[in-house]
Amino acid sequence: MEFNKPRGTRDFLFDEMRHRNEVASSLRNVFENYGYQEIKTPLFEELKLFTTKSGEEIIDQLYNFTDKSNRELALRPEITAPVARLYLNELQKSSSKPIKLYYYGSCFRYERPQKGRFRQFWQFGCELIGAKSPEGEAEVIAMCNDSLDKIGITGADININHLGIIRGLFKHFNIDAATQREVMVVIDKGDKELLEESLIGENPLIDSEELNQVLIKLIDLVGDKSILKDIEELIKEYEEPKDSFEELKQLVETLNSFGVNNYTINLGVARGLDYYTGIVFEVYIPELGAQKQVCGGGTYSLIKVFGGEEIESTGFAFGFDRLMNAIEELTDQKELGSHIDVYIAPINEEVRPKAFEIAQLLRRNGIACDVDLNRKKFKKLMNHANNLKVEKVIIVGPKDLEENNVTLKDMNSGEQDIISIDSIVNTLKEEE
Ligand code: HAM
Repeated sequence: MEFNKPRGTRDFLFDEMRHRNEVASSLRNVFENYGYQEIKTPLFEELKLFTTKSGEEIIDQLYNFTDKSNRELALRPEITAPVARLYLNELQKSSSKPIKLYYYGSCFRYERPQKGRFRQFWQFGCELIGAKSPEGEAEVIAMCNDSLDKIGITGADININHLGIIRGLFKHFNIDAATQREVMVVIDKGDKELLEESLIGENPLIDSEELNQVLIKLIDLVGDKSILKDIEELIKEYEEPKDSFEELKQLVETLNSFGVNNYTINLGVARGLDYYTGIVFEVYIPELGAQKQVCGGGTYSLIKVFGGEEIESTGFAFGFDRLMNAIEELTDQKELGSHIDVYIAPINEEVRPKAFEIAQLLRRNGIACDVDLNRKKFKKLMNHANNLKVEKVIIVGPKDLEENNVTLKDMNSGEQDIISIDSIVNTLKEEE
């Protein structure tokens, strides 16, 4: 019988897990420096948590099921809706605002797997609940930027939009909700030709030529803050998008105070999820090709949708697997050394108990070690130590033990020193 892992899932082996843990720990570091605290939510939730407002895209992609008591459940496709639920269940009354929380965990989407797109994948994300715009948004984007720096990714492109600008235009031209959604789906695809075909082709989605022309021009405007005046010029005839435009301008000013200048204003950032209300952003790493989006986020008001108070929240999630791909593509990966500091090799049967004692002494003192558990011959043990790429071996032999000593071998130079058992811990710590 052969067993295979389910499509779109992966096994992670030792070195990959060490790399992933190192990156996760760097991200934790940055997030905690910004005052965020970690939370964890269940891997599955009630289905309706996700169908209420997460957007069409998510509904198609859910892993949902009925449990033995006929409850409709789903594996979480993302963690913002679970956090909004957690807020209502656990934090609503007690905490003073803003609340800053972060999470690292796997999500599940029934997608067509390809490089950088999986059915089980990991998100590392944050939610800032109850801070005002644009300060909250600017700080969240600054943290995103610092995170990329910290893990050695340079050249990532942070694309920022305010959804209220296009929504304001839709309102001005009385575009119905279904058409708005259709147009946003096309914009989200980021395909200029497809957008032109959909708006100024044979069967335009919107029947206002004026709006179609404005949209085509707006979405074509991609650049630094100097394009703000072009956006202003394009929308100057219309009242509805103006407040959102002002918010975008304020965000740009505030980002400057937070020291973030390397972003792109891009009105084509539409986001697949339906809960965003204002500023949205996505981070692209062009070298990753089709799955270049390593991060997505923005401002939303899910808590109100779920029956709570109106409370402005902003957050983002890194696609952790895509970050790992980017690190592999873009940075020089350092070779990982052995996972242990030292290997302990007893020369014969008789000294084996002493070898175990020494192993426990080292472990109690924070020195990672392995000791022979297979009753192997000494020569085989040294081969094993070589395979483990360990730098030091403690050879435990009867002669040395008579004087309460062992032999410490440096596996790189081949040098051997006789040292007393009482000084092993200090010697190894000094050499670290
Ligand atoms: P999202 O853009 O759907 O946003 O997902 C966040 C990131 O997860 C994406 O930018 C991408 O890097 C990664 N990702 C998504 N699907 C896959 C997949 N199938 N395989 C590998 N990586 C994937 C959200 O989920 C929002 N909850 C983010 C957010 C937090 N907004 C506000 N707060």
